[in-house]
Amino acid sequence: MKVTIFSAHNFEKPFLEQANKSTGFEMKYFEAHLNPEVAKLAAGSPVVSAFVSDQLDRQTLKVLSDGGTKMIALRSAGFNHVDLQAAQEFGIKVTRVPNYSPHAIAEHAIALMLTLNRKTHKAYNRAREGNFSLEGLMGFDLAGKTAGIVGTGSIGKVLCQILLGFGCKVVAYDKTPNQDCVKMGVEYVGFNKLLETSDIISLHCPLTPETKYLIDEKALKKAKKGLMLINTGRGGLIDTKAAISALKSGKIAHLGLDVYEEEENLFFEDQSEHIIEDEVFLRLMTFPNVLITGHQGFFTSNAVECIAKTTIENIKAFALKQELENQIIV
Ligand code: NAI
Repeated sequence: MKVTIFSAHNFEKPFLEQANKSTGFEMKYFEAHLNPEVAKLAAGSPVVSAFVSDQLDRQTLKVLSDGGTKMIALRSAGFNHVDLQAAQEFGIKVTRVPNYSPHAIAEHAIALMLTLNRKTHKAYNRAREGNFSLEGLMGFDLAGKTAGIVGTGSIGKVLCQILLGFGCKVVAYDKTPNQDCVKMGVEYVGFNKLLETSDIISLHCPLTPETKYLIDEKALKKAKKGLMLINTGRGGLIDTKAAISALKSGKIAHLGLDVYEEEENLFFEDQSEHIIEDEVFLRLMTFPNVLITGHQGFFTSNAVECIAKTTIENIKAFALKQELENQIIV
């Protein structure tokens, strides 16, 4: 069976090839991101595999459907980039890879926190130049601080565990409290209380119409002055312009982003020879207390291997007309 893989990266091909050894699907790789034009390349391919940088809107899904595609195997946990309603109308099944490694993302959130706090990125450069001045490198003890976790599913739960290990008080907001977190000592509070009491806020809920701009001007007004805000969820959870105002006023003292609301045209590519035109993003990069990574939270060998294996298993289940365990139901 033909499987067309879009946004294919060199780092994942060996893992996909390894996982496909026992199934022997005819894999075609394209580096291009999916759009209505690029989607024509999948004509005659019953299965298409897509990444977070692929836009699976109605128009693209129509082209895929016209070309005979019946299944989309996402190589991601998040699925906010897919018009699920349109997929259902076109009779296209969509699967994802849940829980590939919550540790990868939770640990990356910690990396952002520690780097912003202890400024190891600056110390690294200074030491190489023989500059051992401590001026400007002062951080704070994480122990004793209150960390607010929004969304305590797989990733949020692991982050709670780690932060409790650091000696933080951990409060959380979730529509459905996680009993494992309650047992660990996490205190569930309302969203406003989380904003008002947290020194550090980390976002781990999905991006939905309900959570779009969860952190906006209004929310930031309620937050503590000097807040550390970490987002490894999805860019759209934060109104970036409101965050920029809060950085200017000092309301946000540290901002760590692994995701950005307009990241589709920026991340996962080398842009170093290009002129970046996104003025909001460029403004963000001028702040010394903003740390941006290009959606690499998931990027551990453990996670990439698991994504490849599960994607191939999802496709195998489809090929064998079995129940799709990881299907996203509208
Ligand atoms: P999950 O589904 O296990 O947990 C999400 C949690 O958010 C659930 O407990 C759910 O009840 C809660 N939630 C849903 N709506 C909410 C709302 N309106 N307010 C508060 N909580 C709400 O998902 P998981 O695996 O923990 O992933 C979380 C998010 O992390 C994903 O949706 C994805 O966007 C992002 N992600 C980022 C990656 C990266 O590389 N930076 C990689 C993988 C996921």
